[in-house]
Amino acid sequence: MRLTQNEGVVQSLSVMAQPLAAIILAAGLGTRMRSDRAKVLHELAGEPMLARVLRAVATLNPHPLVVVVGHQAERVRGAAQGAVGHAELRFALQSDQRGTGDAARCAVTELPATFAGDVLIGYGDMPRIDPHTLRAFIDDHHARGTDLSFISVELEDPAAYGRVVRDSAGAVAAIVEARDATPAQLALKEINTGIYLVGAALLRTALAQLRNDNAQREFYLTDIVAIARTHGRRVFAWRARDDAEFAGINSREDLARMETQIREEVNRRLMAAGVTFIDPATACIAPEVEIGRDTIIGPNVQILGRTRIGAGVVVEGTAWLRDVTIGDRCHLKICVRAEDCVIGEESEIGPFANLRAGTELEGHNRIGNFVETKKARLGRGTKASHLSYLGDTVIGRETNVGCGVITVNYDGYDKHVTQIGDRCMVGCDTQLIAPIKVGDDVYVASGTTLVRDVEDGALVMSHHPQREKAGWTANWHQRHAGHPKAVANAHTRSRGDSGNGAPG
Ligand code: UD1
Ligand code: CA
Repeated sequence: MRLTQNEGVVQSLSVMAQPLAAIILAAGLGTRMRSDRAKVLHELAGEPMLARVLRAVATLNPHPLVVVVGHQAERVRGAAQGAVGHAELRFALQSDQRGTGDAARCAVTELPATFAGDVLIGYGDMPRIDPHTLRAFIDDHHARGTDLSFISVELEDPAAYGRVVRDSAGAVAAIVEARDATPAQLALKEINTGIYLVGAALLRTALAQLRNDNAQREFYLTDIVAIARTHGRRVFAWRARDDAEFAGINSREDLARMETQIREEVNRRLMAAGVTFIDPATACIAPEVEIGRDTIIGPNVQILGRTRIGAGVVVEGTAWLRDVTIGDRCHLKICVRAEDCVIGEESEIGPFANLRAGTELEGHNRIGNFVETKKARLGRGTKASHLSYLGDTVIGRETNVGCGVITVNYDGYDKHVTQIGDRCMVGCDTQLIAPIKVGDDVYVASGTTLVRDVEDGALVMSHHPQREKAGWTANWHQRHAGHPKAVANAHTRSRGDSGNGAPG
């Protein structure tokens, strides 16, 4: 058949912009982790390792992105959705883990039957993979017109990785798993990283021919390389320079090592951007965290999720922050825990403060020691300096919440809202029984239990009249004169080591 000139152009364009699907294998338990938790759910820099892999792959816009799940399928699914919920995600269930080749077979059933583009395959346990590397790998595959490419690296210690075996002409012949390798093959230093790019048709053909006559009685995905060669197809091992990117996590030791590497990398980037670290070795900061210039990060902190910290902030140390937005020049004193909240500029938090989800401080706020907030919106300049619980609360500006104030928000069934206006003085040890609304400029006398709404500008109190009985204490002791404790107390007092401060 002859093509018209235009049809020829359209065809070559479609070859260049080959549709891409991706498959990530994440069904295994990861026996070497010695864990009840699926390996890909183990966390690195505060998130499941699978999330990092999927984010890298999702930047290539694959349609679809298939994740093979098996062990703890529901939780793995949730982790995937949490990481790349926006992508065109599909899940394939591999109920028996019969090897990486079997997992890929499960995934292929999730591709549209008509899909004829390229398939990128990777493993869920290589969390340092860089999207730029994947892009360069894919471009090279197209530039060479290869049928099957995979990424290899040279390792001084090739450990348990699959070895890349080449023929006498130097072309890739096969990948041989370490457990199946001859001593000569074991000595090879070029290894399979576990990232492949292959046309869908060749992939389907090769997967159908996998056998499990190997040391692990598993269907190895790696065997598609030798199968492609026997079909006379072009196979290429793309050598990557940076081997650290492809390190697979197989043990707790691998996990800890990579945690350190990621931490060092993130901290270096932040220091280059003008952040001071008192002790980088104890600052665990997730890769997506942003921190402004001249901010000081003290020792022993975990700053996770999508946390954004402004400029000139001081985090004294021992803090756990996840998904928190912190304005410029805030001061977090020692021991702050904050999650899913906003701390406006120039606020002072802690020591020992617990800011739970939904806390929003407008700015210039003070949250002092042993204060817990939850779904609490505090206007500019409002303070709660000591020992309070503020839950389901909206407080205006410039209000002072005294020591020991408690919003009584829960009736055993429902949570209720407390509203407090601007410029109020809420006296120490006040309880606000929600739902309740306190107006602007209200004075609440200390020790008040508020059960009804209060008008603007009022003084409100629920004091019982103070009563006094003169000489009552001496009388009380006299009535207990024969009590064994009274005798013991008299004895310690006479030795002069009284601990209760009572006059002798
Ligand atoms: C694999 C490669 C090896 C390569 C190494 C790179 C094979 C046979 N070997 O070995 O050549 O050097 O990765 O890190 O592919 N999985 C499933 N279902 C299964 C088995 C595994 O989904 O039935 C998933 C696992 O969850 C894991 C990934 O596949 O995320 C890799 O499996 P793993 O057992 O870690 O393979 P390796 O022995 O490391
Ligand atoms: Ca592995």
